[in-house]
Amino acid sequence: MGPVAHGGHCVARHEGRVVFVRHTLPGERVVVEVTEDRQKGFCRADAVEVLEASPDRVERPCPYSGPGKCGGCDWQHVGHEGQLRLKAAVVREQLSRLAGIDLPVVVEPLPGGPLRWRSRARFAVERTGEPGLRRHRSHDVVVLDDCPITVEPAARAVLGRRWLDSGAVDVAIDSAGAVTTTTLDRRGRPQETSVLRPGAEVPEEPAGRAQRSAGGRDWEVEGTGFWQVHPAAADALVAAVSEFAAVQPGETVLDLYAGAGLFGGALAPGVGAGGRVVCVESDEAACAAADANLADLPQAEVWQGDVDAAGLTELLGDLGRPDVVVLDPPRAGAGQDVSRVLAGAGARAVVYVACDPASLARDVAAFADAGYRLQALRAFDCFPMTAHVECVALLAQA
Ligand SMILES: C[S@@+](CC[C@H](N)C(=O)[O-])C[C@H]1O[C@@H](n2cnc3c(N)ncnc32)[C@H](O)[C@@H]1O
Repeated sequence: MGPVAHGGHCVARHEGRVVFVRHTLPGERVVVEVTEDRQKGFCRADAVEVLEASPDRVERPCPYSGPGKCGGCDWQHVGHEGQLRLKAAVVREQLSRLAGIDLPVVVEPLPGGPLRWRSRARFAVERTGEPGLRRHRSHDVVVLDDCPITVEPAARAVLGRRWLDSGAVDVAIDSAGAVTTTTLDRRGRPQETSVLRPGAEVPEEPAGRAQRSAGGRDWEVEGTGFWQVHPAAADALVAAVSEFAAVQPGETVLDLYAGAGLFGGALAPGVGAGGRVVCVESDEAACAAADANLADLPQAEVWQGDVDAAGLTELLGDLGRPDVVVLDPPRAGAGQDVSRVLAGAGARAVVYVACDPASLARDVAAFADAGYRLQALRAFDCFPMTAHVECVALLAQA
């Protein structure tokens, strides 16, 4: 078996074709079963028998994981240390291939081990009302009684029950132990939200906001709205962003894709009363939460709007040159147009938080065209057992 690739598989070659193989590890000899063969250049396969195992291979802790089973995790068959090395190799390879940067990468584990970390999840619901997760690259639902990577009260609130007339259930547990569930219809539209508080027998409606803590502050977030999934992730990311941003009193910070204001709120005390922090976020509920979270920081303000090239150009026209830009876009990244506008804004530091190393690498390449270089990178294992990895990159003008 060849090297690991982005997406939770390894690369093999057979009769001149590339085969992306799941459930294996680099260096193994395995028997594979082709699962998808629609493209000329490559096909997909599962390792169904291991002939020579990698030293990183372990027994899967989750009985639902394996070839043809639940598609929620990618690396259940790999020890945690091995997972960190696989993810580091993927980040390094993406930066090299898409941005032409050769940088040693270390993926740092978060406290708590690789199980029972998922504090927010979406479970799919079968027509029978039974919840579970989808098979890999399929709409089929694998019905689950438990999900060992999900925090127990959140898994218990959804799994092993029936959710008739819903297509999915979102669940999140906050730092006070309150479990919020939101059902969605088959088109993904929210139906009902309720919250079960610790010690309570019955859920409350409406649910109100959830409590989170990170970076030494308390935060309010919409019950199942965006917040880092791993309970230790927000703290780790705030620390890395603060280290890279190294803000000074009086500086102006732009926090793009700001959610409930996590990074802007963490940096605001550093710029002091003479500085300014502008958080930009498109989601109305997240903006309302950010307004509440930043109310004690008069130097911080929340702008509701889309981060796109036109909107950013207008915003930068009003704001002038920011000293620091923090951006934490969704999986697809900021994209070339936004990256170019941002690079043209002339900030002394751009701190890019990325949940997809491929998108990060593409955007780093766009920043490089405008003279920004990748100065430092930290990567965190915010999603153990899965192929996902979170990176924080510092870009500065060369
Ligand atoms: C990965 S989350 C980051 C949130 C926040 N930085 C945090 O760590 O809690 C991305 C956020 O970007 C918002 N978003 C997505 N597309 C956007 C856009 N085009 N303009 C502004 N915000 C957007 C989403 O609503 C979401 O809150």
